[in-house]
Amino acid sequence: MNRAPTNWDIFGGFGRGETGERINEVGNMGDKLKVFSGSAHPVLAREICNLLETGLGEMTIHKFANDNIKVKIEENVRNADVFVIQPSTIPVNEGFMELLIIIDAIKHASANRITAVLPYYAYARSDKKDEPRISITARLVADLLETAGANRILTMDLHSPQIQGFCRIPADQLLALPILCDYFRAKLEDDYVVVAADAGGVKTTAGYAARLHLPLAIIDKRRFADDDKAAVLNIVGEVEGKKAIIFDDEISTGGTLVEAAEELLSFGVREVLAGIVHPVLVGNAIQKLERSKLKELVVTNTLPVPPEKKLNKLTVLSVAPLFAEAIKRIHEGESVSALFR
Ligand code: R5P
Repeated sequence: MNRAPTNWDIFGGFGRGETGERINEVGNMGDKLKVFSGSAHPVLAREICNLLETGLGEMTIHKFANDNIKVKIEENVRNADVFVIQPSTIPVNEGFMELLIIIDAIKHASANRITAVLPYYAYARSDKKDEPRISITARLVADLLETAGANRILTMDLHSPQIQGFCRIPADQLLALPILCDYFRAKLEDDYVVVAADAGGVKTTAGYAARLHLPLAIIDKRRFADDDKAAVLNIVGEVEGKKAIIFDDEISTGGTLVEAAEELLSFGVREVLAGIVHPVLVGNAIQKLERSKLKELVVTNTLPVPPEKKLNKLTVLSVAPLFAEAIKRIHEGESVSALFR
């Protein structure tokens, strides 16, 4: 049957054995590939499955009157290579607990290998001991995933690279950089500067600047309390008369981005765009963005963006092709870092 080419074809589709059979189906490259989704972001999981040309694994999640969750895997996963997709969305703790219980159920159903796929890693900002006697929850998340039975972790744009080192099981970090850069490259007909929203993001943002062959400026932003509020102190680099593209790992309350846009405009920037990986968009972030002077916000779909959050100035790019390709490569034992070369 003829069909329109999918994104998956662009990546070359599944490898084929000598007789042309689909490798994952016959299992001659190892165990059968299965993909399951928690309730956080089934739309993304289905998109990934479509690209992999596989169905979403069947499972039921039951919540008892006492708020306990029971997961039942409704198909055979014995010896399978299983990927469970669950980004961290609100309610964060419930979603994470659900992920642990799904992994537990799959482990006890005798899967051969389980990869926890967290397009947005839970508690990513709790990654350091910058005050006495505080939790480092991103580390705890890694430990809990391993304890539940995950053998690998697949994630995207961690808030800080050290989180990868928190994991004692292999952890692959994908980057949305190629997706965001391809989008912005198509617009670059003018004098642009890439801007890091804070000093912590300089290394990552420098990667965007290098890929786009643009100069880099840095916003010197500080948080003085643990209250989601930050103050812009200075801008390092030449921005006057240019158009600016701010890159950051996440937009949560929108405070950082809106304030950065205002500061840049007050420093003589002509127009501000932003490319942000994870659209957390909590509280009144959408209203803030709508009122702001930001011209365009480009995010990815690592997290769901419901219709009521879809502003005219918001563009959502899909990370599904990248996740599908990474899952295929992990399954077939190929390099994942090659995706970024
Ligand atoms: C902070 O270090 C992050 O990179 C983001 O800038 C921050 O999470 C954005 O938060 P908000 O949107 O609440 O200002």
